[in-house]
Amino acid sequence: MQPFRFRLSIQGRQPVELGWIYWRMAIKFERGGNAVSAESSFANGMTVTPLAGPFGAAINGVDLSQPVSQDAFKRIATALRDHHILVIEEQKLDKPQYLAFGQRWGTPITFFNPSHREVEYPNLIVIHNREDTPQEFRNGALHWHVDSSYEDPPASVTMLYAAEAPAVGNETLFLDMAAAYDALPAAMKTRIDDLLVEHGIGDARLYLEGEYRGGVMKGDAPVQTRPTFRHPLVIRHPQTGAKVLYAPAGSAFGIVGMDTDDAIALLRELKMHATQERFMQRAAARAGSVLVWDNYAVMHSATPTRYSDRDGERRLLYRISTRDVVSL
Ligand SMILES: [Fe+2]
Repeated sequence: MQPFRFRLSIQGRQPVELGWIYWRMAIKFERGGNAVSAESSFANGMTVTPLAGPFGAAINGVDLSQPVSQDAFKRIATALRDHHILVIEEQKLDKPQYLAFGQRWGTPITFFNPSHREVEYPNLIVIHNREDTPQEFRNGALHWHVDSSYEDPPASVTMLYAAEAPAVGNETLFLDMAAAYDALPAAMKTRIDDLLVEHGIGDARLYLEGEYRGGVMKGDAPVQTRPTFRHPLVIRHPQTGAKVLYAPAGSAFGIVGMDTDDAIALLRELKMHATQERFMQRAAARAGSVLVWDNYAVMHSATPTRYSDRDGERRLLYRISTRDVVSL
């Protein structure tokens, strides 16, 4: 076993155009050349532990059924900024308690499709695997996308609370889109930095080989009549200022000022680049946990779900997506 080395670093960032400054201290323990961030436990007992793999963290020692203090919430939001996805473990929440936690992140988005909304709490999106689920609603998230990128503003944060979930499978895959941008050749960065992408529900034509193509979403208005929106292909993360490749997938269907075939080819090339294993993490909302992700930092895809009403196979998730950005 190799000895641990201790390193303290202070990192600064000053993105002038966003008008803010932050500094943070990182303590790293290194073994065998692999640095592992050892985020500490805090005074209130909360711990943040990095997941194995390129990014993500687990949080323990916080009870979301109780009002979360401003300090504790800031710790959680800071952890999300730093790790992109969080698994908050050991929770038992009723719907009002979960919604109260979701609202700490900002204004919840009412999902465009009424049939997915929880009847009493329409800002909760119900995700289940009942055997009577119509075919068009099965595995609807089984493609690379960013939540609500077909709206403006899109979702900033998404969370899933698992009231029931199988002990294995049902993972969500995540891609670090800042790392994907950083790894692009300089010429490609120059080419795409100022491009605007057209987004709309039902217009995606960027599927990769083997990617799910079924389950066309049906909203409360026909797909053809829903508005389209433009988002920059490269954004500045609203909290870190890092350049991020934003949603070259999902609802993207064109690039402003570019021939459609050329636009689709470019977006597909970027999507293939971003979906490399080296940028990928996997995480699941197991029963009693809340999985949270930063839509300005990651792109994601569900994995295939088994449709079953049997004990140990049922899945009942409540999703909340919010629009606002937490100030840190
Ligand atoms: Fe999603």
